[in-house]
Amino acid sequence: MSNQTNIQNLRERKGRSRLGGGPERIEAQHKKGRLTARERIDLLLDKGSFRELDAFVQHRTHDFKLDSQKFMSDAVVTGWGTIEGRLVYIFSQDFTVLGGSLGEVHSEKICKIMDMAMKNGAPLIGLNDSGGARIQEGVVALGGYADIFLRNTLASGVIPQISAIMGPCAGGAVYSPALTDFIFMTRNTSYMFVTGPDVVKAVTHEDVSFEELGGANVHSEKSGVCHVAADSEADTLYLIRKLLMYLPQNNMEDPPFVPGDDPLRMDERLDTIIPADPNKPYDVKEVIRMIVDGGQFFEIHENFAANIVVGFARLGGHSVGIVANQPAVLAGVLDIDASEKGARFVRFCDSFNIPIITFEDVPGFLPGTNQEHHGIIRSGAKLLYAYCEATVPKLLVITRKAYGGAYCVMSSKHIRSDLNLAWPTAEIAVMGPDGAVSIIFRKELEKAKDWVKKKAELVAEYREKFASPYVAAERGYIDDVIEPKETRPRLINGLEMLSNKRDSNPAKKHGNIPL
Ligand code: HXC
Repeated sequence: MSNQTNIQNLRERKGRSRLGGGPERIEAQHKKGRLTARERIDLLLDKGSFRELDAFVQHRTHDFKLDSQKFMSDAVVTGWGTIEGRLVYIFSQDFTVLGGSLGEVHSEKICKIMDMAMKNGAPLIGLNDSGGARIQEGVVALGGYADIFLRNTLASGVIPQISAIMGPCAGGAVYSPALTDFIFMTRNTSYMFVTGPDVVKAVTHEDVSFEELGGANVHSEKSGVCHVAADSEADTLYLIRKLLMYLPQNNMEDPPFVPGDDPLRMDERLDTIIPADPNKPYDVKEVIRMIVDGGQFFEIHENFAANIVVGFARLGGHSVGIVANQPAVLAGVLDIDASEKGARFVRFCDSFNIPIITFEDVPGFLPGTNQEHHGIIRSGAKLLYAYCEATVPKLLVITRKAYGGAYCVMSSKHIRSDLNLAWPTAEIAVMGPDGAVSIIFRKELEKAKDWVKKKAELVAEYREKFASPYVAAERGYIDDVIEPKETRPRLINGLEMLSNKRDSNPAKKHGNIPL
């Protein structure tokens, strides 16, 4: 063959591999409002940066007449490219080929990319659109998933792993994402379930739609499986690009520094944001936006356990993880979901050298049989464990309530927090004045002629004595009481003071976080 023919042959082969399951299936994919595996990669990565690997790999299955269906690239496209000039490794499953199902070579392609991401210390992004283990390949497909699960687990805490769910994903196609750091979903076109509606109906006789079983709203509001839900595939991919800007390439690096607005900027509105009535709510997200660079806050788990707010921002150009009780939802109480949401986020930040800034206004843990029976003790302990274990710089601002166990949990000095600040409105005590007075003055109150008046007096006395930051500040549990408007410059100064922080935990195989 002449050189020209060889090149022509190569071009034809490459052209075929780009067609996946063929024009009809691509059209069907588009009709469902979904992009193809390659279109998604093109949208996600910097223009022209994608380098494909293993485009000629084909499956080796002979059963169920599969050998009559050969697809170049099998059901996944893999390779690397850049996002804002930074290297990432990527796999994108192709639903047009056998429903994006995963068999032997599909797994081999993903594992190869995962190994490269680990060796070269760059994030792994998985765009999932798959019916799970390829049924025709039997145990080989299951083994293929297990190979991926092992790598997901070994890569955890070494490189950031980000999953996007772009179609109906089942079985292994949800368990691999579940092992990664962040799951993104697209509303109305992406679904996650261990088993699809057909299997659910056969086993439980429950008739549920894709949406009810595992749509983006279900997972971003109820189960908490999804961290970020977006309205379109383009938005989903854009948000992944945004998230990566807050993250380092791997656990040996610091996140990128992006200069922000004036580090000395003070927002006077902070001085009046706390309502005079301690039982009145305010929106902690407003507080966060007034303090961070450019008011930019990338929220994680926005609609799940909204009584705690977590996400990324920058302070003086440094990437930080923010954890904040949200007084505007359930008074900012810590319940099971909020504890788990906070714990997972704190552990991510600690793994990847991202300082943790905590804004505290919490009346305590949520009481009641529902919470007790579902294990608030175990879940609360997760958050406590995560904060205790974290060795990244930890900075705290108590804006109002810091009551009970929640005081200890939320980045208290006692669990190695580095800089603990309080606003003059802070109330730090074992419990709120109302509850405390009812317990310690029960006998006096029973004897009082005017119960209401007596209680009001005792509450005022208690508030004067304990519901302030000064008892804690006198002991050094709070490093300083500051004017609210000073918060931004003080936090930036604190972060810079802590920029060479070194701390570690005792050598061990691993701890035993109360799962
Ligand atoms: C082989 C599959 C497949 C699979 C889908 N297809 N899933 N082929 N193995 N797992 C094929 C279909 O036969 C079909 O081929 C094409 O992909 C498109 O699928 P449809 O069903 O037409 O699409 P849709 O209606 O959108 O439904 C998508 C779906 C559904 C919800 C994913 O296909 C489904 O329920 N699939 C099975 C899901 C499942 O139970 N997987 C679990 C595997 S076990 P044709 O040629 O007809 O168009 C597993 C264990 C891992 O993953 C370990 C976990 C710990």
